[in-house]
Amino acid sequence: MKSDLGKNDRMDKLVSLCKRRGFIFPDSEIYGGLANSWDYGPLGVLLKNNLRREWWKFFVTSRADMVGVDSSIIMNPKVWEASGHLGNFSDPLVECKKCHHRFRADHLLESTAIEPKHEKERPRSAAHIKCPDCSGELTETKQFNLMFKTFIGPVEDAGSAAYLRPELAAGMFTNFKNVLDSLRLRLPFGIAQSGRTFRNEITTGNFIFRTREFEIMEFEYFIRPEEWREHFERWLMEIKRWWTEVVGADMGNFYFHEIPDGERAHYSERTVDIEYQYPFGLKELHGLAYRTDFDLKRHMEASGVDLSYRDPVSGEKFIPHCIEPTFGLDRMVLVTLLEHFEEVEGGRSEEGESKHEKEIVLRLPRALAPIQAAVFPLSKKEPLTHLAGDLAQELRAVGFSTQYDETGSIGKRYRRQDEIGTPFCVTVDFETLEDKKVTVRDRDSMAQERVGIGEIVGYFKEKFA
Ligand code: GAP
Repeated sequence: MKSDLGKNDRMDKLVSLCKRRGFIFPDSEIYGGLANSWDYGPLGVLLKNNLRREWWKFFVTSRADMVGVDSSIIMNPKVWEASGHLGNFSDPLVECKKCHHRFRADHLLESTAIEPKHEKERPRSAAHIKCPDCSGELTETKQFNLMFKTFIGPVEDAGSAAYLRPELAAGMFTNFKNVLDSLRLRLPFGIAQSGRTFRNEITTGNFIFRTREFEIMEFEYFIRPEEWREHFERWLMEIKRWWTEVVGADMGNFYFHEIPDGERAHYSERTVDIEYQYPFGLKELHGLAYRTDFDLKRHMEASGVDLSYRDPVSGEKFIPHCIEPTFGLDRMVLVTLLEHFEEVEGGRSEEGESKHEKEIVLRLPRALAPIQAAVFPLSKKEPLTHLAGDLAQELRAVGFSTQYDETGSIGKRYRRQDEIGTPFCVTVDFETLEDKKVTVRDRDSMAQERVGIGEIVGYFKEKFA
């Protein structure tokens, strides 16, 4: 399957690397694929798991004011009535009268805008736009609901209709009382969740940027209404700290887009879209919204259950307000890869058969790298292979994700590991038999040092601390 980004060289190279090296594969490829659906391969799973784990550590377990839940994908449909998703979770759809291709009207408008950031200058109607595929006339815009419908049990009727969740927030609001009662938390506190969500998007594309099935990590941070501004600013700072300190991103590629009045979701008093300069344009990465008490109030009215909070000291009773930082994990994977993908002109390898004109290095932070160490025997013969195999297993046993590689020259093996972002390569050579030391090579500086075999675990523990 070809990527949909033919004119985008950097993106094409990344998509190709992801396929070639086992990060991300086209879904159901042996059956011709399913448009814009992707599967994570062995290295992609490791990278995604590392991002999820570090995010959870950063925003949840390292804090005293955060807890987690893991709610169901299929919830009582009344949840989606109350949240407004059944009525309002839709995108504007237009269809070409000639080729019958369907588009999101707002995306077509954006593509014809003078300057997409300046909302006021955008044309408000898609009536003047022709079909981008065949120049045919487009239909009037109609609203298309993005919820994926299914049925519970053997009978497919209105009474058994249910929906795959389009977001996680509802699972936090519906469990608010359970969490409050079981843990006796005091404001401010947050409930976080990470999980799969489903949206029947009209158009998908740009690799894993927009798909119909994706993972969200988000939390609802419950506060006193009068404190919302300070909490909002604090979460903005934490979001920046996440991207710089954990992902190692360059904030020059980010744009914090303050959504103006009249363009925010109906429940939001303030929203900042965190946008990223992707190779295919400046687009949303994730968001931060002040959702007021809209959701708890709606669920309280619809369920008839009291979702208010009573302050244990003052006895004051009120419905907490909430701030919601939301992150798409797949977009986070994409941005992490883009931020650290580097093609070195002239190559980095020493002169010889392994040298290439352009060599790829994925300079992932150590905590995110799918493979933390690679172990090579200098030759394919005993006793080097045995020693190297044992060393790789020793590293795995203490939790380092480790690859063993004995094929090709050492230069080629370094290059293969640089491409997948492995921070350290360890070579067992003939000198090892004499001095019981191995050569450790650093991915970024390419500096090499000799480390005693008995000290290697401690050495890596320090490097990955
Ligand atoms: N509870 C708030 C919420 O769901 P959202 O902006 O609709 O907010 C959250 O979605 C995040 O999910 C987005 O910021 C984006 O990172 C990601 N996302 C949304 N739609 C997506 C799609 N079709 N494919 C991949 N990621 C998507």
